Amino acid sequence: MHTTEYNRIAGDTIAAIGGAGDAHAAMTAAVATLKEQLPHYNWVGIYLMDGNDLVLGPFLGKPSPHTRIALDRGICGAAATQRQTIIVDDVNSDPRYLACSLETRSEIVVPILAGDRVLGEIDIDSDRLAAFGAQDRVLLEEVAAALADRLSSGRS
Ligand code: SME
Repeated sequence: MHTTEYNRIAGDTIAAIGGAGDAHAAMTAAVATLKEQLPHYNWVGIYLMDGNDLVLGPFLGKPSPHTRIALDRGICGAAATQRQTIIVDDVNSDPRYLACSLETRSEIVVPILAGDRVLGEIDIDSDRLAAFGAQDRVLLEEVAAALADRLSSGRS
């Protein structure tokens, strides 16, 4: 997919986040926009920090058994602990991976940060191997920044 398309999708998603009535609606809108516009995003969800765990919030795709993930577990835990985006090209060769669906082949996890504080993360699975690249990282880091604004502002 062309960069122009990614820019348009970033604009649409950030507008949906800004236009939502509250923080929960903003997360739901972001998940829906991303899932709808990017065919290789087979599962799209947002986890939120709750103490030392990540708790599943809005998502689209098959129900996941991992609704609560401790920080020392999974690719999700690793991305939150390192405060960095993690892209895994082949989940079946990554020992950290917690399986959500048998069809999943690759994954990207992008932390939602307010300064150094992890508010949560965007987690996306694809049924294609190595589905995520630099364009996905840029798009999702922009979306995560917009979500961080909504989650940390009074306008929740
Ligand atoms: N694969 C994630 C767990 C969440 S499911 O993909 C929805 C992980 O390894 O942390």
